[in-house]
Amino acid sequence: MDRYAVFGNPVGHSKSPLIHSWFAKQTAQALSYEAILAPVDAFADCWFSFVAAGGRGGNVTVPFKEQAYQLAELLSERALQAGAVNTLYIDKAGVLCGDNTDGLGLVADLTRLGARLQNASILILGAGGACRGVIGPLLAAGVTHIHIANRTAAKAEAIAGLFNHRVTASGYDRVPVEKWSLVINATSSGLDQQRPPLAEQHLKHCTLAYDMLYGKEPTAFLSWCKQQGVPQCADGLGMLVSQAAESFAIWRDVKPDVAPVLQQLTAMVKA
Ligand code: ATR
Repeated sequence: MDRYAVFGNPVGHSKSPLIHSWFAKQTAQALSYEAILAPVDAFADCWFSFVAAGGRGGNVTVPFKEQAYQLAELLSERALQAGAVNTLYIDKAGVLCGDNTDGLGLVADLTRLGARLQNASILILGAGGACRGVIGPLLAAGVTHIHIANRTAAKAEAIAGLFNHRVTASGYDRVPVEKWSLVINATSSGLDQQRPPLAEQHLKHCTLAYDMLYGKEPTAFLSWCKQQGVPQCADGLGMLVSQAAESFAIWRDVKPDVAPVLQQLTAMVKA
């Protein structure tokens, strides 16, 4: 049976084995998918042992996405833009390929939620890997202007500098006054039950607030957005399932249906 796995540290919390086993069942693909705890200093060894034991492909999560980027022999355009790899596989010629499906997953989830991306102005909060990974696919979906706000303005400016004039950046105190229809939290602030220090005036035209994190309860950012009257608030569970579906399609040439898997996972996570 073809073997796949997610590599992370920690990795015990990962929902990927469950999601991919549901995808496999749904598409009648015979495969196994496990979680592999890689030592922080031995990701490459761990990957190569997996391949030697019949591994065909993998997902890569914190803290190995940049190491996977270095390891891959052939990078997709998306992975190059993201500077990180979340999907590894060996192609027919035996070449180790690296791709990044995080941004596609976000775009797919925003589309599922009914967000209009064409000609939109989007505010992204945070300038870590989570932010960088999604800019290219958002631009490709027709977004006109993306502004990145970050506590450390220089990090946001460095990411904006990788793209064209449609991407701008600042600290939270210098966010331009514009009709931001979509505000995306790509910071890790939710892990500490905190929210980014965004002034409420920037939510005035926001029709959808999105947090890339997810959990049983709404994140501090989403609770605040709801309080401020944002009509629709969503967490990153849909992005998680959608990026997994994109990886599965790269490996297996068949695109699973996200909706039933997201429904099952939501029931589990929010229970
Ligand atoms: P990753 O690359 O995995 O996304 P990271 O580089 O640690 O992780 O980035 C985390 C992001 O969350 C950063 O943009 C960080 O802001 P700084 O660059 O200024 O540190 C942001 N972040 C974390 N906690 C935050 C908080 N409480 N409020 C606002 N931003 C926060």
